[in-house]
Amino acid sequence: MKLPVAELHIHLEGTLEPDVIDRLAKQNAVTLPWTSLEHLQEQYNFSNLQTFLDLYYTNLAVLRTRGDFHDVTIAYLRRAHASGVRHVELFFDPQAHLERGIELAEVIGGIRSGLREGEALFGITHQLIACFWRHAPAESAMEILRLMVEQQHEIDGIGLDSSELGYPPVLFQEVFAFAREHNLHVVAHAGEEGPPEYIIQALDLLKVERIDHGIRCLEDDALVQRLVTEQMPLTVCPLSNVRLRTVDTMADHPLKKMLERGLMVSIHSDDPAYFGGYLDANFEAVHQALGLNGSERATLARNSITSSFLDAEAKADLV
Ligand code: HPA
Ligand code: ZN
Repeated sequence: MKLPVAELHIHLEGTLEPDVIDRLAKQNAVTLPWTSLEHLQEQYNFSNLQTFLDLYYTNLAVLRTRGDFHDVTIAYLRRAHASGVRHVELFFDPQAHLERGIELAEVIGGIRSGLREGEALFGITHQLIACFWRHAPAESAMEILRLMVEQQHEIDGIGLDSSELGYPPVLFQEVFAFAREHNLHVVAHAGEEGPPEYIIQALDLLKVERIDHGIRCLEDDALVQRLVTEQMPLTVCPLSNVRLRTVDTMADHPLKKMLERGLMVSIHSDDPAYFGGYLDANFEAVHQALGLNGSERATLARNSITSSFLDAEAKADLV
């Protein structure tokens, strides 16, 4: 799979492979609950989003320094390059690092220098999106966003992630309005585990430019029609959906149905170190289970570029 693609739904903290977690824990003297690499590797069986998030938040404690953020960014870009990724819009969770006492300048400075070096090494262009936790109060997101704006931290947009059920987008209306006023791009996870109503709120109240996941839109015909008419991008993550049991098996994945209905869907990897593979593995798994033809594969790749925040000229260069 070497069609040019843009990776638009990728959490940096979800690219931490078990061996990297083990190495960084030793290097930074961080004590994790796992007694060995094998013990850690036994933890990767998830029954829903929350059981995954518990492991992901535990393991990201190994990231301590600007150099760590730089190094894991480069490691991800090296792997992405091998999957044909030409542009990345990378998510990170600022609250996960601030609450451990790591300063924003270390986190963002490290990731940004990694992205710049990755562009020089692999030709992958980039944007950076700070995702706020929906399980934390909106006041926390607002405080951090204000700091990012006041201190001119280099971010291109904001997103919304973490536990979905019980945390509707409406809670973050002011945060997103503030981000839009400051010319930041806005995206949100919605309709992964949460109902179609959360997708509608993300559109109407947060005025997002993309929906991350969005697969539960299929439960609401009027919503599907609207998403088709608006050609609203949906960043779908097939291996994630199977591993977090939002769909039973890859053969049951609605991706092909979504394409057939004319939705602006593209494929992404979410947390590849946790879900069994990077972008190429997601394409391959979907192809094996659903038998995508060449034209469907080309549409998915092209949609990823169309759905990106690149300008028209840069998009034209890639498709
Ligand atoms: N959903 C919600 N929050 C997340 C995810 C996800 O798939 N990955 C990392 N944080
Ligand atoms: Zn995600």
